[in-house]
Formats: sequence, C-alpha cells, structure tokens
Amino acid sequence: PLVGSGELVADAHASGRGVAAFNVITLEHAEAIAAGAEAAGLPAILQISENAVRFHGGRLAPVAAAAAAVARASGAPLALHLDHVESPELLRAAPEAGFGSVMFDASKLPYGRNVAATAEAVRFGHAHGMWVEAELGRVGGKPGDGEPEEGRGTLDAHAPGVRTDPAEAAAYVAATGVDALAVAVGSSHAMTERTAVLDHALIGELREAVPVPLVLHGSSGVPDGELRRAVAAGMTKINVGTALNTAFTGAVRAFLAQDARTVDPRRYLLPAREAMAQAVAAFLKVVGG
Ligand code: G3H
Ligand code: ZN
Repeated sequence: PLVGSGELVADAHASGRGVAAFNVITLEHAEAIAAGAEAAGLPAILQISENAVRFHGGRLAPVAAAAAAVARASGAPLALHLDHVESPELLRAAPEAGFGSVMFDASKLPYGRNVAATAEAVRFGHAHGMWVEAELGRVGGKPGDGEPEEGRGTLDAHAPGVRTDPAEAAAYVAATGVDALAVAVGSSHAMTERTAVLDHALIGELREAVPVPLVLHGSSGVPDGELRRAVAAGMTKINVGTALNTAFTGAVRAFLAQDARTVDPRRYLLPAREAMAQAVAAFLKVVGG
C-alpha cells in the first residue's frame, strides 16, 4: 500500500531503526523497489528527484502516477517522496501529484538564503499536508556541483568544508521548521564504489543537537558496516540511488555482451529489474532489519 513517508520515518526514528529511500528513474526502478521491499518484508520510500523529472520532459505527473500505482499495488508499505527539489514550481506541483513529502534542496545557497527559502518551502509543504526534508552542509557529487568526474566521492568525503556543524544544524531546524534534516557526514552522491568513511562522532553530535530525524544522502558509496553504525548512531532515512543504476546497467551490459541480436527490451530489462530488486532487499535489511 501507499503510505506517508512522514510516518515511515517517524516510526523508524522512534524505534532506532533506519528506513531506506530509493531513487526512481524508470518504471522498472519502481517495480524493483516494490519487489525488493516485499522480499525483505520491510517498508521503503520511492523517491523521484528533480533531475529524474527533468529526464521525463519536465513532466511530474506521469512518473509520479506510475510510482504511486506501483506502491498502491504492493504488499509492502511504500511511500512517495519528491527528492532534491530546487525549483519552486516543482515544489508547488508536488501535492497534486500525490507526494506526501518533499526534500527542498537549498544547500547550494549561503546559510541565510538557505534558511529563508527553506522556511518558505516548509510553510507551503505544511499548508498542503506534506512533510519537508532539507539539507544543511553540502553532500556534493550531484551533476552540476562542479566536482571533477574522477574520484569526486573521495574528494568530498574528505573535504572538511562540507561537514554539517551541529550547533548550526540545531539553529537551522529551529529557524526553518523542517521535519527531517539531511547532513554532510562523509558520504557523497554518485559513488560507484562503496568506499566512503563516515564521521560517526559527528553523527552522534548531530543526533544530540537536532530533534528531527537525520537523513544520509549518497548512501550508495557507503559500505554495509558503515551504514549499520550510522543507523545505530542515529541516522534514520538512508537515500540510495546510484547503487540501483549500477545493478541495472551491469545486468543490461552483461546480457547484451552475450547477445547481439535481441531487440525486445524486456529480454534485458527483466534481469536489470531483478538485479535492482536484489540490491533493494540487501540495503533494506542492512538499514531496517
Ligand atoms: O537523494 C538521493 C541520494 O542521496 C542518492 O545518492 O545516488 O549516491 O546513492 P546516491
Ligand atoms: Zn541526495
């Protein structure tokens, strides 16, 4: 069934567990997240990013309707979240498209402007029944962030400037009224190797300082042991995107390397969807088991 991300995250937060959120690009991603959640017997969040909406011609409704329909038909509790929203127009389209929550990303702005823009997004979200996540500090590694392609995860993970300061985080949550906070603690977006090293002491300090659930972005690059420690230290929503694409593309590549004649995409989308479902189930068990 389709459930609210706010309640999934609040439940996980209250019981010291994590809940994983996976990025949906194609219909097969959504189906794989549902299959993986059913196999693991755990809830999950389907999230659609502003970048993914842009890929679908800037149209939110078709991809959101498909993901919501997959969630409704699933045996697992699945929520629908709009991820990394920078555009105020997209934010305003979210309630009608069926989203129960949104991550408003003003992390590229200086602190004061981030606070003002996020507080306004929170006012809009709450007036329309949506739970709102925001980011303080820079996780980095997204397209357009300006890092070099090669080794960008490593660069971010070790750059002291991108860490979230606990006192600033507490002030930010109070000033904006956000329901969850994405923090920079050593992970970086779009890593294809699981080599990130998290700052566990900082996660503990943030957990003490911040009253709302904490969100880890860029979790594809974080090894299982680091993820378990992060959840134990107080990280609640664990965002995974690239790992599904690594599984998808790896399966397609392996299939096509063996078969130069296939034209029906279902032949290679089937193993791709299965590979993503396995990755989903594995992350869910690490984070929420
Ligand atoms: O918001 C989405 C996540 O932070 C995904 O990051 O693609 O590096 O796993 P990732
Ligand atoms: Zn992210």
